[in-house]
Amino acid sequence: MRPTGPLHIGHYFGALKNFVEMQEDNKAFFFVADWHALTSDYADTSRINEFVDEMVLDWLSVGLDPNKCTIFRQSQIKQHAELHLLFSMITPNSWLERNPTYKELQQEISTKDLGNYGFLGYPVLMASDILIYRPNWVPVGQDQLPHMELTREIARRFNYLYGETFPEPQAKLTPAAKCPGLDGRKMSKSYGNGIFLSDTMETIAPKVKSMFTDPARLRKSDPGNPNVCNLFPYHVLLTDADKQNEIREGCKNASLGCVECKKIFMQSLEAFLAPIHERRAAITKDYIHDVLAKGNEVARKNAEETMRTVRQQMKL
Ligand code: ADP
Ligand code: NA
Repeated sequence: MRPTGPLHIGHYFGALKNFVEMQEDNKAFFFVADWHALTSDYADTSRINEFVDEMVLDWLSVGLDPNKCTIFRQSQIKQHAELHLLFSMITPNSWLERNPTYKELQQEISTKDLGNYGFLGYPVLMASDILIYRPNWVPVGQDQLPHMELTREIARRFNYLYGETFPEPQAKLTPAAKCPGLDGRKMSKSYGNGIFLSDTMETIAPKVKSMFTDPARLRKSDPGNPNVCNLFPYHVLLTDADKQNEIREGCKNASLGCVECKKIFMQSLEAFLAPIHERRAAITKDYIHDVLAKGNEVARKNAEETMRTVRQQMKL
């Protein structure tokens, strides 16, 4: 994940939830992608260290445990850059030009400069970030599937040219691989439509009030449709099953209005966020720096091991 601001509940249900589950039975690596943060925002790097710490704080607060997984910072493991350079030699431009994120963002009116070499090539860096740990699974949200496909293509091409070296990793999706934001678009840092893991309930209250529900339901006496509501998917994730059914039925038969439904949602959110906020309050900056220092060491050792094989295979 790129350190470009606080993480939201979409990050949690789309990806972090799997991070936390997968640390139990796997040798798992999670990194702060600070080089990737430069692809669009290279001019102002003044807040990057702050964002790195905040992201690790978000991770630790949802239950990532440095005793069960490796948490590190991309830019501290130079081997990622070496593998990126080698992969860039074997990756056809056409593979990068057809990347949907690249195509979309080129067309969007943006305040960011996306006309650079680093931005076109970031999926190659991503492939290096992933393959250098030779994983079987990568826990990501749905929007990352094209990048995973490219990662497998690069692995396949490398293996074909230099001999079997890399696995072809699969995306590990959650059941909520694309969480809607307050306005119905994908919840995203850049759309300003997020509920952040670090938000207080006071900050969240007006956000929930503004959330789009079924647009065809104008007053409480109109029956609603939970299937087109932005909020109902969050009840599925956060509210216990009995209550969920009550809400679904109450919405459909117009006995439960959006205001009451949102009140229940606030309660569910509060119960979900309370332990996260509690853990968060107990974590110090020194601890975060210690976690990263130790994680960087473990990651570097693993990455260097892969690079020794890569150099051998390529006769470098
Ligand atoms: P980046 O870290 O590259 O800036 P994002 O912040 O968009 O990208 O996403 C980080 C991770 O969280 C990705 O795996 C992405 O798929 C997932 N994610 C982000 N937003 C959502 C969402 N609204 N629903 C589900 N998953 C999401
Ligand atoms: Na583990």
